Amino acid sequence: MVIFGASGDLTSRKLIPALYRQFQRGRLPNPTRIVGVARSPFTTEQWRAQLTESTAKYVKGEFDNESWQAFSNNVFYHPGDIGNEEDFHKLANFLNELEQSLTTDRVYYLSTMPQLYAAAIAQLGKAGLNTEKNGHRRVVIEKPFGTDLASANELNKSIHQTFREDQIYRIDHYLGKETVQNMLVLRFGNTIFEPIWNRNYIDHVQITVAEEVKVGRRGDYYDKAGILRDMFQNHIFQLMMMTAMEAPVRFTGEMVRDEKVKVLQAVRPYKGSDFAEYGVRGQYAGYSDEQGIPDESITETFAAFKLFIDNWRWKGVPFYLRSGKAMSCRTTQIVIQFREPPHMLFGDQKSFRPEANRLVIQIQPAEGIQLDFQSKVPDSDMKMRLSNLDFRFDTSGKELPDAYQRLLLDAIVGDPSLFARSDEVEQAWRIIDPIIAAWKSPAAPSLFTYEPGMWGPIQATEWMESQGRSWFDVCPII
Ligand code: BG6
Repeated sequence: MVIFGASGDLTSRKLIPALYRQFQRGRLPNPTRIVGVARSPFTTEQWRAQLTESTAKYVKGEFDNESWQAFSNNVFYHPGDIGNEEDFHKLANFLNELEQSLTTDRVYYLSTMPQLYAAAIAQLGKAGLNTEKNGHRRVVIEKPFGTDLASANELNKSIHQTFREDQIYRIDHYLGKETVQNMLVLRFGNTIFEPIWNRNYIDHVQITVAEEVKVGRRGDYYDKAGILRDMFQNHIFQLMMMTAMEAPVRFTGEMVRDEKVKVLQAVRPYKGSDFAEYGVRGQYAGYSDEQGIPDESITETFAAFKLFIDNWRWKGVPFYLRSGKAMSCRTTQIVIQFREPPHMLFGDQKSFRPEANRLVIQIQPAEGIQLDFQSKVPDSDMKMRLSNLDFRFDTSGKELPDAYQRLLLDAIVGDPSLFARSDEVEQAWRIIDPIIAAWKSPAAPSLFTYEPGMWGPIQATEWMESQGRSWFDVCPII
């Protein structure tokens, strides 16, 4: 595995710890060599020393000297500049020496600034590092994949000049989360959910990714991106696809992704007043005082909007998508809100409206599933109360691996199921681009301010209530 951007934060915080943990478990092909490439003039010894410290910090109690020694013996550093063609030829020689002409699969991981993706890939091509005479060649690309449809399209075209689509692994780390993958098992490994997983039984779906953190030191990037690019086009849409997709014929990368992309293709485009009426935008109070944010910034740090998926399963069922920074708590959850019973036998129907069934899928930091249902209050007339069946992922007693552990291993063994395909990424931009454009135009809906620590602006709550529904605003108990 060749990591470009080796001196960056992602490499030390996520990539190396993930590879090390997989090595400890004996899951990496043996031997797996890791070559870091960046401009800094480190030696291999210096880089290893840095990684020893950072890895010990990030894997915490899992670090042990013996396995680290064995792992880091196969970690190398090779200085190189993406702008310099000669450096790629030198890298090619270095890799050939390491591999001693044996057939070896290679994964090139681009953990660089996104502006450098196209250049890095072109250089790999020029140095012949894409040819597969001696093993597979794959390339992993971090998000963001473009900043709109045009740039994503251009990037895809330029990468396709060097690598085939089946060699390209676009990371969306949400797909590496165990609880996201569990959605597939919940839906397609059981029979009881499928018959009710549709417009006949489901009133609406809510997908919330709430974060307590603010933009921190990423102001420069964030103010240009905003929440629609940062969270919706990728992570939230992935969660929506997992919730709404049809069962693939087989669990293969292509078949899973075929079904996912059909969901995005079925999303009804907004027209006219939808842009203003189907969503609420917000910015937390104090955002413009953050480092790197202009005083007059109108970038959203919160957004909520609804989409309709026009197909047989979902016609007429709104999908409410919501995400924000500086919210009440950190929680990612999918709520399947079922319809009310058609006819209520119990209680005084004028004053009492029982809550309908609800399936809450907790993605993080709580990891589990709750099914809410009505039961009788003991020793009462026919009074009802909401009860729940509660499943917690951690009852298995196993540590849930970090998303990167799974994704890196999949890229190494060549399983693309949990990576985004070019048509998926482009279709996602096709949905988001018009909303971003409308929200930047003079006809944009108001940008509401909210106090940090709330569930976004109060107008988002009122907007939901005006449709006879309410958000599931519950911070998980862990
Ligand atoms: C990143 C976004 O892709 O995902 C961040 O750029 C966000 O703004 C992060 O905080 C959330 O990831 P997670 O895994 O903490 O939910």
